[in-house]
Amino acid sequence: MADRNRIEIPLPDDWHLHLRDGDVLPVTVNHAASRCRRAIIMPNLKPPVRTVEEAAAYRDRILQVCQWDHFEPLMTLYLTDNTSPEEILKAKDSDFVHAVKLYPAGATTNSDHGLTSVQNAREVFAAMEQCDFPLLVHAESTEPNLDVFDRERAFVETDFAWICENFKRLRIVFEHVSSRAGVDFVNSNASRMAATVTPHHLLLTRNDLLVGGLKPHHYCLPVVKTEDDRRALIQASLDKENFFAGTDSAPHPRSKKESHNCAAGIYTAPFFPELYAMAFEPHFPDPSQDPAPLQDFLRLFMSVRGERFYRMPLNEKGSPDQILEIRKEEWTLTASYEFAGDELVPLYAGKTIPYKAEIVKAN
Ligand code: NCD
Ligand code: ZN
Repeated sequence: MADRNRIEIPLPDDWHLHLRDGDVLPVTVNHAASRCRRAIIMPNLKPPVRTVEEAAAYRDRILQVCQWDHFEPLMTLYLTDNTSPEEILKAKDSDFVHAVKLYPAGATTNSDHGLTSVQNAREVFAAMEQCDFPLLVHAESTEPNLDVFDRERAFVETDFAWICENFKRLRIVFEHVSSRAGVDFVNSNASRMAATVTPHHLLLTRNDLLVGGLKPHHYCLPVVKTEDDRRALIQASLDKENFFAGTDSAPHPRSKKESHNCAAGIYTAPFFPELYAMAFEPHFPDPSQDPAPLQDFLRLFMSVRGERFYRMPLNEKGSPDQILEIRKEEWTLTASYEFAGDELVPLYAGKTIPYKAEIVKAN
């Protein structure tokens, strides 16, 4: 008889991940690889990953420190005002660069080299549309006077509308969608647009950030929003084939988080499947009674939908002899990880959560 306290899925994927570089790379890479098979790797290093050559070198550094055979980093390029259409063609021809990331200049961590105007990338967008290369978008307006909770909605109404209007066949991922306005925009462009949804935007609202004392480890960009926004994300993830998992796990040292100038980013890579199970559990029959519905959903949300959008073969490198087991079992998360001489504090540090996942041999 099946063990009812247990869900089994093929090794999942993370369709939006920050690993950083240098001394901390062994920590971040092995945390991610302990839970997932493939990950879309964000290019916002200092300096950013702008060329196919730089992406190849970064990929090598990631693989060098990785202790797991199954892990496959899927690289991206950082779009600047100077990115050339030729670089897009090179990326398309490579078998390891899978998308280009648009950061509006100044919108978030390490975005100084981002686009100062989306119109500066007109020729690059045309080349991407022509060769069917996906654009990943950090969708927040940088208008200085704009309320921080309205930045996603404002970007949708201005720059994002312009991109969609002018490049009708360009395939786009709306990254870390965080608001009902964002969800509505994805739905109205559903034939060629997908969205990643983070565990923290599914689990937290701005009350978790601001009530009872400011919580720096709940601060990220786009900032977590209202309960109505959170519900829109849950519902879209449950109902729509083009919403899938992207953790936006973004490590910063404790000294930069617990600071008068708190860095934006929440760290979830070491236990992200557990967090998604927690977020969606209330919307399924109790998995201890019937694990199948939650199990089927998590497989679609964490692997299949992203794989379809990126047009990757199902289970490309998935060794069928390995699976992720997610058990309904309480465990206490570590208070912090060693992080190149500093500390890395994950989401829910020191707290007990109800699921525990592990890569195991399939039998
Ligand atoms: C990310 C980071 O730290 O690199 N921070 C964040 O709050 N999400 C950048 C990003 O994805 O916006
Ligand atoms: Zn990110």
